[in-house]
Amino acid sequence: MTIETDRDLQQLKHIGNIVAVVLRRMIDRTEAGMTTAELDQIGRQLLDGFGARSAPRITYGFPGYTCISINEQAAHGIPGPRVIEPGDMVNIDVSAEKNGYFADTGGSFVVPPASPLKKRLIHATRQALREACGSARAGGPINRIGKAVQKVARQRGFKVMRNLCGHGVGRSLHEEPEQIAGYYDPRDRRVLRNGMVITIEPFLSTRSTYATEADDGWTLSGARGNLSAQFEHTMVITRGKPLLLTVA
Ligand code: CO
Ligand code: CO
Repeated sequence: MTIETDRDLQQLKHIGNIVAVVLRRMIDRTEAGMTTAELDQIGRQLLDGFGARSAPRITYGFPGYTCISINEQAAHGIPGPRVIEPGDMVNIDVSAEKNGYFADTGGSFVVPPASPLKKRLIHATRQALREACGSARAGGPINRIGKAVQKVARQRGFKVMRNLCGHGVGRSLHEEPEQIAGYYDPRDRRVLRNGMVITIEPFLSTRSTYATEADDGWTLSGARGNLSAQFEHTMVITRGKPLLLTVA
């Protein structure tokens, strides 16, 4: 969506804050020995408490409230009986709706002890998000976002998952502009407009450049042994720096 009224902005800030707080609290409460279903129930209770509804659940019938992906899983992991182990790389993606407005955030972290490789991957992915956000402004090309992500990945010795992309958001979970790639696509001629609401969500990985869908019809994984990390913000495009909505 593109912001048209003050109310649009206020409502987006509200749901953006909610998903950011839910993500932060879920990360804080993650412990080795817990199942991903238990962690998801914490997310459900938090969303309920804020009067927000899980976006993947109401939009796609996702069998969970948040997406929880571990190690070789990159995205859309279904909460279930999998036990979170010490040293696991965990990604939690929280997207939700309130009063007809949607926001989407996500983050990766390691349940201690963290290996040096996992720490580096997380650090590089955070940097990719930061630099991609810094490259996004009204009047500029959308493909500058992917260019920035790809540059950081290369410098840090990681790959980009090419089929996991940012997207327009706001009145629904996924809307125009779709497929905001994490790599430079010279054929992408689209331009960012003032007030446009989008996510930027780089997925960096150790090996894989594509995530494939599991038999469960949801989970997107890299190759065996691949590790990936993602950080995601929902933001409003402006003539200066984007206005981040998913802040706690
Ligand atoms: Co997300
Ligand atoms: Co997203």
